[in-house]
Amino acid sequence: MSYPSGTVVLSARHDSAEPPGGFRKRFLVTGGAGFIASHMIISLVENLSDCLVMNLDKLDYCASLKNLDAISSKPNYKFLQGDICDSHFIKQLFETENIDVVLHFAAQTHVDLSFLDSCKFAYVNIYGTHILLNAAYEAGVEKFIYISTDEVYGGSLDQVAISFFFSPSLSLVIL
Ligand SMILES: NC(=O)c1ccc[n+]([C@@H]2O[C@H](COP(=O)([O-])OP(=O)(O)OC[C@H]3O[C@@H](n4cnc5c(N)ncnc54)[C@H](O)[C@@H]3O)[C@@H](O)[C@H]2O)c1
Repeated sequence: MSYPSGTVVLSARHDSAEPPGGFRKRFLVTGGAGFIASHMIISLVENLSDCLVMNLDKLDYCASLKNLDAISSKPNYKFLQGDICDSHFIKQLFETENIDVVLHFAAQTHVDLSFLDSCKFAYVNIYGTHILLNAAYEAGVEKFIYISTDEVYGGSLDQVAISFFFSPSLSLVIL
């Protein structure tokens, strides 16, 4: 595929690296140079050798590709440096890479910094996610998994059940 100027493709494989019948599934993992997604990528690359795992990361201040050294030269791994907020790039990526599954981890994550520059957090975490969702929808991807936090999703179902269960008792205790 051709990438917009400014996009750095560090270890993208040639199409010829694909197995003769192509990959069984093609995963796009965003924020793969971050803490959680780097572990997810290693697990996917090592356990699903018939699937392609693409790591899209802007390489922000907190990112590190070091964690991915063990799998960075595997034929079913490809790293792309790019920004989820770059709608043109994201659209092109989905149009050309035949992505089946998106695992979206890319985010501004450091809560302390969000107090200083909340706009940047809203831009990346909301606008960037919107750009990805739109492109994924238009490309008809099979599954889009958004890894976020309990501030977005709420507590687990177990916790909800527990709070429902305990609320009446708690009221009784207070009374
Ligand atoms: N780490 C935790 O304890 C924790 C807990 C709960 C939820 N989460 C959530 O899990 C997700 C991942 O967290 P993490 O700790 O791995 O984050 P992290 O900060 O370690 O990694 C985020 C990655 O996203 C990349 N990124 C940032 N902006 C980008 C952009 N515009 N385009 C492309 N890439 C971009 C960064 O370069 C970085 O590699 C976040 O949504 C976070 O809120 C994390």
